[in-house]
Amino acid sequence: MSVVTSDIEKAAEVLRAGGLVALPTETVYGLGADAEDPAAVGRIFQVKGRPPTHPLIIHIGGADQLDEWVEEVPATARLLAGRFWPGPLTLVLRRGRRVPLEATGGLETVAVRVPDHPVALALLAAFGGGITAPSANRFGSVSPTTADHVRAELGEGVDFVLDGGPCGVGVESTIVDVTGEAPSILRPGGVTREEIEAVLGRPVALPSTSHVRVPGQHPSHYAPRARVVLVEPEKVIAEAEHAQALGQQVGVLLPPAFADAPVKAHAVVTVPASTTAYARGLYGYLRELDRQGCDLIVASLPAEEGLGLAIANRLRRAAGPRLSP
Ligand code: TXA
Ligand code: MG
Repeated sequence: MSVVTSDIEKAAEVLRAGGLVALPTETVYGLGADAEDPAAVGRIFQVKGRPPTHPLIIHIGGADQLDEWVEEVPATARLLAGRFWPGPLTLVLRRGRRVPLEATGGLETVAVRVPDHPVALALLAAFGGGITAPSANRFGSVSPTTADHVRAELGEGVDFVLDGGPCGVGVESTIVDVTGEAPSILRPGGVTREEIEAVLGRPVALPSTSHVRVPGQHPSHYAPRARVVLVEPEKVIAEAEHAQALGQQVGVLLPPAFADAPVKAHAVVTVPASTTAYARGLYGYLRELDRQGCDLIVASLPAEEGLGLAIANRLRRAAGPRLSP
């Protein structure tokens, strides 16, 4: 897992040559390309199987570079960047001329963040430019939080994988749109709504489900292969045992309050009581239940505060209607 200087140099070389590099960030692994190389950006969409109209995030090496990538930086954006970067916060701003439309899915706005991971920051410094990177998974599936997840899912599609160990946050960045009068959260993530509101000194609106073109807001996203059903915490065991008795291979995300309860199911993961630990583990649990051959996962939502908001958002997406059965 340890990354040495020559790996960083090699990865920067691959980016310069128009290749794709999987890189660790504090949230999830990204599939990176030179943000200013439209052909390389095009390959990201191909490898992910992602529709080309879905915008990507551009990763930069420091808040001081923000003006190079966006047209105009409102005071709110400076405030948030100053407080949370490097960190799991993405700001949506007006697109600067340097940003190709391929990276924004044709939008006149652009999403930018400074990742808080030593390997990502070392790569950004060695490369010098911006790295556009969506999560390094196939479109619609669960984001990778280890280098092995990336290799298993994208294999030959990636030219170089930087293994920085498991991601510390485990869910993606919080996306805040600061282009309008009032900032709004487009996707809850690693920085909590409460933290953002405390810095801004005002309430911040949460996602509306109306923008279907934004992939994080598609009905089914962040989804394992197994079907996911959400029930009240006290009904998880009964629901799981019922489905198992009907012949399904049932995986359970067991709420911490029921930790030692016996459950007649195929596979059981007791989720941690701490939302920090739950967020860190969430995608790994879903992948593990898939690996164990579950066809149904029964889970419940945590309280929607702090990181619980992002966890609940991902579980809802995972349980959303599938495009194909
Ligand atoms: O933590 C993260 O954000 C990870 C790591 C790798 O940085 N990246 C990530 O990228 O989650 P991706 O592509 O899986 O999700 C990017 C999200 C999408 O929901 C996309 O719609 C939104 O960012 N986005 C990008 N540009 C946007 C824009 N101009 N306006 C609104 N949403 C935008
Ligand atoms: Mg993603």
